[in-house]
Amino acid sequence: MSVSAATVRQLGVSLGERSYPILIGAGLVAGHPELARLAAGRQVAIVTNDTVGDLYEAPLAAALHGAAVRITVRLPDGEAFKTWESLNRIFDALLEHRFDRHCLLVALGGGVIGDMTGFAAAVYQRGVDFVQVPTTLLAQVDSSVGGKTAINHPLGKNMIGAFHQPRLVLADVDTLRTLPARELSAGLAEMIKHGAIADPDYLARLEADLPALLACDADALTQAILRSCEIKAAVVAADEREADVRATLNFGHTFGHAIEAGMGYGQWLHGEAVGAGMVMAAELSQRLGYIDAGVVARLRRTIGAAKLPVCGPAWPAERYIELMSVDKKATQGTPKFVVLRKLGQAAVQRVPDDALRAALAAGTA
Ligand code: NAD
Ligand code: GLY
Repeated sequence: MSVSAATVRQLGVSLGERSYPILIGAGLVAGHPELARLAAGRQVAIVTNDTVGDLYEAPLAAALHGAAVRITVRLPDGEAFKTWESLNRIFDALLEHRFDRHCLLVALGGGVIGDMTGFAAAVYQRGVDFVQVPTTLLAQVDSSVGGKTAINHPLGKNMIGAFHQPRLVLADVDTLRTLPARELSAGLAEMIKHGAIADPDYLARLEADLPALLACDADALTQAILRSCEIKAAVVAADEREADVRATLNFGHTFGHAIEAGMGYGQWLHGEAVGAGMVMAAELSQRLGYIDAGVVARLRRTIGAAKLPVCGPAWPAERYIELMSVDKKATQGTPKFVVLRKLGQAAVQRVPDDALRAALAAGTA
């Protein structure tokens, strides 16, 4: 069964001939005319994992009835499986079923499945179409939009990848009802980030709507996901390959990546680390004289209300500094930080050591 267009909100990512729509609403996993149009008469492979597949593969597969051939590739669940081995399982299935270069891949899952399927689509027969059907809040507001695809290497997360934009993103807010609470909060971290770096009014709306968002209210989620996707889409349209402004989407991430790596991947969810990381980045922005203590306190309150950690582990500054020296934004070991010049405006810059150490002291337990 497909949904009525009235329940669905739509926006576009403007990238010339690689532009694509993002559709957000309830019930989309059961189909939409745009998905049916893309799938009609083609070889279509759904890529998912065991957890999400058990929940949502059946309605999505039914919605793809117009495909010439339809297969499903089920991968094991987890960041630990974002590997060459999983990627090869996708290629094995496509080649066994003689998928040609006009085939369509459909990623059904969170950011792990979306990133891997996108990378498979980027390189299979030198590039095929793919659709994102994100089922985590993080994937709906962040990873499914913007065309970054990757797998992990034992020596670094997301180190092997490509830019490859999807043809369509279908974000079904109903799927978030089965998402574990910690994962929902992890997605809220990225939404708070969008408000902090680009839109103070949106941040205020998020603050007011947090109870409804945490309760998975479909209308509140649809409105907020729409605004987050608008913000991310505008940044991606301006700087697809992260030459400059796209890096501001990493607000809180330099500190957050250090926490994730230092704790051991999987201990803290990415969004949890970004929550604490945004507090540290706000502390840093205050010490650079850009924002006042009231803004830092407000962000700390909002992040806490989203049920995210508001401080990092109590490691010595040296440990953070060492972990941050391998960040992707670091050049020759010196990290850059995304700071708030004011609420709603971010910049990427190097920072003095004393400000960094003071921010670390204020932002750790
Ligand atoms: P995830 O894909 O691991 O999903 C989290 C967990 O939730 C998994 O166990 C998954 O099976 C489960 N799940 C997913 N949807 C569900 C649902 N509706 N109901 C119940 N369970 C469900 O994690 P994530 O947070 O979505 O994504 C993290 C990944 O995204 C990382 O690999 C990160 O590198 C990547 N990422 C990419 C970008 C990008 O721009 N490409 C941006 C941010 C993050
Ligand atoms: N998640 C950061 C980006 O897409 O650039």
